[in-house]
Amino acid sequence: MSTAYRKVVRPVLYRLGRGDAEIAHEQTLHGLRRLSKVPGAVPVLASTYGALPAGVDRTVFGLRFPSPVGLAAGMDKNGVALPAWRALGFGFVEVGTVTALPQPGNEKPRLFRLVDSEAVINRMGFNNLGSEALAKRLAAYGDLGYPLGVSIGKSKVTPLADAVEDYVTSLRRLHAYGDYFAVNVSSPNTPGLRELQDAGHLRELLTALKAEAVGKPVLVKIAPDLTESAIDELLGVCTDVGIAGIIATNTTIGRSGLAPSDEWLATETGGLSGRPLSEISAKTVAHIHAATGGALPIIGVGGILEPDDALRLFDAGASLVQLYTGLIYRGPGLVRTTNRRLASDSRQGELS
Ligand code: FNR
Repeated sequence: MSTAYRKVVRPVLYRLGRGDAEIAHEQTLHGLRRLSKVPGAVPVLASTYGALPAGVDRTVFGLRFPSPVGLAAGMDKNGVALPAWRALGFGFVEVGTVTALPQPGNEKPRLFRLVDSEAVINRMGFNNLGSEALAKRLAAYGDLGYPLGVSIGKSKVTPLADAVEDYVTSLRRLHAYGDYFAVNVSSPNTPGLRELQDAGHLRELLTALKAEAVGKPVLVKIAPDLTESAIDELLGVCTDVGIAGIIATNTTIGRSGLAPSDEWLATETGGLSGRPLSEISAKTVAHIHAATGGALPIIGVGGILEPDDALRLFDAGASLVQLYTGLIYRGPGLVRTTNRRLASDSRQGELS
């Protein structure tokens, strides 16, 4: 199906909206959302893609994951297609990033495909319906059969000085529905947000969120653009506060690793994801793993375009992985083949 996806489905998606990447994204999500509601459709999809090989399940920060391959934040921001993701073979999903206030995000166009680089640049800017709407939607789902992560960010209109209250409001509303919470302090598309990765801000923010999250794991998602000493400082705060894990990484503001034919898009503002991130995310995961002596679970994310990329993140020390851009370029077959590779890879037994 991977070839069929590349030869048939992908060209159609790319042409939708005269090549506007966001329209292809919306149509995909809309299709999966409708599918989620058609009686019997999810089981059929599940039998094609979702059947998981034996031995890929694992327990991390107290949660049981049917597969360690998850859908990264930003794809299903408002949680509209949650049953369908499990049927595509994902073992967990991170919804959001969601903010306390609903917001439209940045002006369009704000999503660009760099096809030859197998990369994407986005400056969506946390377009989402708000944490109240998300809580209402999540309340309507039954058991999803996988752990649900909820990614929380800051509303654009909220000044940095009031960020804590903004994040806490969302966590309070969503506490009953998320199995873990991801604190997004690493999106490049909300002015000032990444300053929250600085030790002082971070300590205050995480202490407040940890107090609110009673009984639920809180993770921190970091940028790939931090220096190693900044990461070390951040890890110190996370350990002090009792953070359950690190998600590494978000998109990069760097522009290296682009194919020459895509260089003309390098000046678009936003975060770069996909293939150019593979090496950076693996290096970041390896650094965190070494710095913490493997004591802090890591979700590795960034540049998984084939099963080997996922294996590299596990080898670097990740306990779980997530992907987004790989789904755009390789389709759901990537999730299935990654699960299979994990099942057949003997190294995984040692990691779970
Ligand atoms: C993202 N990503 C993202 N991350 C996050 O924490 N909150 C978000 O709202 C979003 N939104 C978002 C939108 C789009 C269009 C993309 C492409 C990405 C980042 C994403 O979760 C992931 O960390 C990076 O994309 C790196 O992984 P991939 O895409 O290389 O697999």
